[in-house]
Amino acid sequence: MKLVRSIKEMAALSKKYKGRGEAIGFVPTMGALHKGHISLICRARKECKIVVVSIFVNPAQFGPKDDLKRYPRNLGADTNICRREGVDIIFSPNREEIYPKNYKTYLAIDDLGRVLCGKFRSGHFRGVATIVTKLFNIISPDFAYFGQKDAQQAIIIKKLVRDLNMPLEVKVLPIVRERDGLAMSSRNTYLNREQREDAAVLYQALRMAGVLIKKGSRSSKEIIRRMRLMILKKKSARIQYISVFDLKEFKPVKRIKGKILIALAVFFGKTRLIDNMIIKA
Ligand code: PAJ
Repeated sequence: MKLVRSIKEMAALSKKYKGRGEAIGFVPTMGALHKGHISLICRARKECKIVVVSIFVNPAQFGPKDDLKRYPRNLGADTNICRREGVDIIFSPNREEIYPKNYKTYLAIDDLGRVLCGKFRSGHFRGVATIVTKLFNIISPDFAYFGQKDAQQAIIIKKLVRDLNMPLEVKVLPIVRERDGLAMSSRNTYLNREQREDAAVLYQALRMAGVLIKKGSRSSKEIIRRMRLMILKKKSARIQYISVFDLKEFKPVKRIKGKILIALAVFFGKTRLIDNMIIKA
């Protein structure tokens, strides 16, 4: 396994693999790797000759009040995981390599970037789309792997690839969860014991929504109300949003029909967690 820091070297390696006709599978991450990331790496390992994992904590997607400084960083442990999983290249550039002085170009995401999480994290998806595009240009992957955990991110990246005619295929893989249902996340390490126990309610609330819909409930308002009640029973929880979302129209739905996405963001103490579920009525 190779640890690559420079864009030039990464691009040269990709060119070499491409010249040999070897498929490149790419897993973009911000490090602090856990089983969620590993599921993406495993799938890439199965499907592609060459597996590239990027580790870069992207300042452009963090807001001024976000946790950029305290975001967990552990390249040593991440390297061990990648080696064990058979990764060929870790691409981990430093900040100046990616955003040199006088960097000026960012991608604009239309209304899709202003709903759900985008409503509360202005500029977040602009930062995500920019870094992902840069990484795609540097690595030229044939396949790129994303998690359903960040549902809106996955939707935006799929749209980005289609809208800008990028020559690669995006694959979105299921959410990996802890035993009690909490979606794995690097941010779970910020939770204290009480918050960690409380946080399991997110998955319970999503499952309850699934049951209500299966039983015939079709009102988003009613489902959100029931989810709110359940989540707010937990002392440390503060809801930012719960939304029932139409995956085709990319907007909130009032009456549930067909396949919908229920997405939520809830604070436990200062830690903001997101989760979601796709449910078919
Ligand atoms: P990061 O949060 O490190 O996540 C990297 C990838 O792992 C994302 O595609 C994310 O959806 C996926 N992932 C995280 N937790 C998961 C879980 N529990 N189950 C399945 N997949 C999971 O997302 C980012 O980094 C950044 O925004 C990035 C795309 C790297 C751009 O900076």
